[in-house]
Amino acid sequence: MGESLGIGLLGLGVVGGGVLEALQANAQAYEQRCGRGLEVRAAAVRDVSSRSALAANGLSLSTDPAEVATRDDLDIIVELMGGETPASECIEAALSAGKSVVTANKEVMAKRGSALLSLAESRGVELRYEASVGGGIPIIGVLQRELQANEVSSVRAIINGTTNYMITAMSRDGLSYADALGDAQRLGYAEADPTNDVDGIDAAYKLAILASLAFHAEVAPNDVYREGIRSLAARDFVHARDLGYAIRMLATARRTPTGLDLRVHPTLVPLEDPMAGVEGVLNAVSVSGDLIGSVMLEGAGAGSGATSSAVVADILDVAGRMASSQEPRQQRRLESSPLLASLEDICVRTYLRLEVPDRAGVLAELGAVFAAESVSIASVLQTPHPEHSRSADLIVTTHACTDGAIDRVLDKLAHSSSLIELGVRLRIEDGRDDQ
Ligand SMILES: NC(=O)c1ccc[n+]([C@@H]2O[C@H](COP(=O)([O-])OP(=O)(O)OC[C@H]3O[C@@H](n4cnc5c(N)ncnc54)[C@H](OP(=O)(O)O)[C@@H]3O)[C@@H](O)[C@H]2O)c1
Repeated sequence: MGESLGIGLLGLGVVGGGVLEALQANAQAYEQRCGRGLEVRAAAVRDVSSRSALAANGLSLSTDPAEVATRDDLDIIVELMGGETPASECIEAALSAGKSVVTANKEVMAKRGSALLSLAESRGVELRYEASVGGGIPIIGVLQRELQANEVSSVRAIINGTTNYMITAMSRDGLSYADALGDAQRLGYAEADPTNDVDGIDAAYKLAILASLAFHAEVAPNDVYREGIRSLAARDFVHARDLGYAIRMLATARRTPTGLDLRVHPTLVPLEDPMAGVEGVLNAVSVSGDLIGSVMLEGAGAGSGATSSAVVADILDVAGRMASSQEPRQQRRLESSPLLASLEDICVRTYLRLEVPDRAGVLAELGAVFAAESVSIASVLQTPHPEHSRSADLIVTTHACTDGAIDRVLDKLAHSSSLIELGVRLRIEDGRDDQ
């Protein structure tokens, strides 16, 4: 076996700590698997003082990740700091210095992945990012390699464990949004500022990465339409279940005749849909292609062990190629600025919870507004409003119509006396809305 490869870890937190542990605990097995020893020589953290034991064991610690990223004695840089800056600059510096990089950073890969992958290619090195989507679920490699014979038609995914945990708690235990969030924060599943998760920003980053791979296109996070889960109430889960649906924060990327349809929002899925069975912090990704039909992967989308599994696999693969002097894997060329379908033309079924005055004639007035936009109502349920005695909750589901038609209905209702407030608008995905 040749000389050991030098590894630099940028970050020793939940994932970085797990990766260090795995590399140290399994050093012999990994050396046999990839043909060279893997020696973690340096790491960057913000707080060096609390890590004296690591330093005593010969690990060089620095608070300057850019310095670690370009050290001469390192061959592979593993970026596990998170966030856009300075992670993005460090990855760029490492690639420019001729080092292969492994990262779990969805924000950087979603925003700058294409440029960084080109840089890696031009320098003859690799940039791997399996852990950036779905934690331990091996979906990046599956899209890049195992499914490459397919023309992918759609990707459907639950790729944010925080919101899936909250949604499951609201559905199973009848918790309010605020209580579900509080629980998630207590258990360490949600950050103090949960914006990235509950507003779908994190899922949009991940969907942009998956869609780029599935459709060989440069999909940017801003290409993804997103809505969060803040307006969901526990009673929506009860109504949805009565109608035969579960609610899931679904990330969907579809090829349509008018372009890519890219969306992250809470969605009603049939109770028998495998996505409805994905509970708690689990993630799942389902890919449909012309040859494979459909394939679904489900597993731990976060956590030290699961995420380290994906990061270390990337390290071993890159190291193995280096050890056997193989060329770096080439990435497929991407179509820049893909054509995007316009959301208002997308045909969907819709679930609405409307707060309406509890008086005679309201249903007829509402019905007329829907009819004027040619929106056909599939079901209506009226229940007392839980807080306002003079209001009622009206749960309306529609047959498939354009999203734009629902916009116009809601716009008209907003100016009428028959609507007090739009509680929630959710799209239904049950296969009965194909264009
Ligand atoms: N946690 C998961 O389950 C999970 C799952 C999938 C993907 N990921 C991704 O993995 C990456 C790491 O996540 P994590 O949960 O491990 O984060 P984390 O626990 O917050 O750890 C971040 C680490 O980076 C270090 N760090 C941050 N900024 C730094 C800077 N400017 N200079 C030097 N060191 C810096 C921190 O140092 P200190 O320790 O000294 O503060 C810490 O060791 C992120 O991109 C995340 O999205 C995480």
